[in-house]
Amino acid sequence: MSEGLILGIESSCDETAAAVVAGGRRVLSNTIASQVELFRKYGGVVPEIASRKHLELILPVIREAVETAGATLAEIDAIAVTHGPGLVGTLLVGLSAAKALAFGLDKPLIGVNHLQGHIYANFLTEAPPSFPLVCLVVSGGHTDLIYMADHGEMELLGRTLDDAAGEAFDKVARAVGLGYPGGPQVEQLARSGDPEAVPLPRAHTEGPYDFSFSGLKTAVLQYVQRTGPLSDRQRADLAASFQHAVTGALAEKTLKAALDRGVRQVILAGGVAANGALRQAMHAALDPHGIALGYPPPVLCTDNAAMIAAAGYHLWKAGVRHDLDLNAVPGLGL
Ligand code: KG4
Ligand code: ZN
Repeated sequence: MSEGLILGIESSCDETAAAVVAGGRRVLSNTIASQVELFRKYGGVVPEIASRKHLELILPVIREAVETAGATLAEIDAIAVTHGPGLVGTLLVGLSAAKALAFGLDKPLIGVNHLQGHIYANFLTEAPPSFPLVCLVVSGGHTDLIYMADHGEMELLGRTLDDAAGEAFDKVARAVGLGYPGGPQVEQLARSGDPEAVPLPRAHTEGPYDFSFSGLKTAVLQYVQRTGPLSDRQRADLAASFQHAVTGALAEKTLKAALDRGVRQVILAGGVAANGALRQAMHAALDPHGIALGYPPPVLCTDNAAMIAAAGYHLWKAGVRHDLDLNAVPGLGL
């Protein structure tokens, strides 16, 4: 099929996912088996348990994705799989499945960087973003500001010097007695809070495009210790104030990068891009300058395989092919 039918496979953390995407744009299926319920009682992902769960789920999930797409494995043009960053044991499950399929079906294997996958979720829309652009990747493990001149041309402008934005959301969630994963629950709680109620520090960093969230997180923890058991009102105010501080810092530096680089387009990527307050803060910063803001729908912000297939499509078109000795790289950079 000349359109470029890509099977994407993702298993970097606690979602076992497979998807079929046509032409890097059209999502024909997007199957996600989440292990979130399993890890709620532990308050976080247990890597060894996650790996075993991926093993159980990977083949049924791939089968469902191909069937839902109304396709057959024979029609697939290439198999794109996350090979890092992530948990080594969980990555290996998806990667091994992808290699077995590529070998058995004699199809090209394409290793995809999970972070580039998050970015490419933005291209799964009718009106994809235009280059050059600045992208803010905000996930559980990363907070990166990236300049993209074109497909595959990425320059890291700045990043967090300590906690990732999503990680800070998760830790603050725990501090105010919310479960795992914390981000969506903090957002929900913050809706009834006053973002100006609790004064919190805005982190200072040397680099113009770097972030730091550990001071903010510590200030939240100290407020909880100082205040003692929080009332519902205090919890909501604290969540709102924390979210306001994080989204404000993210919007400020992203705007600076966009203005300094003279781009007309900014995109958001990663789990925290699902946050409504972040989208609002970004609009408030960028709209007055006429800079367009793009972000994926929430289901494509958090981990999924459609984004891996979308990134894989552009690599496939650029002629990238990987050998069967492709390895999992837990610390893979952009
Ligand atoms: O991109 P992602 O699904 O996985 C990684 O690659 O890390 O991001 C997960 C992170 C978690 O820290 C989660 O709490 C956060 O994204 N997150 C959110 C929201 N939805 C997910 N943070 C704030 N608001 C949300 N609505
Ligand atoms: Zn992710």
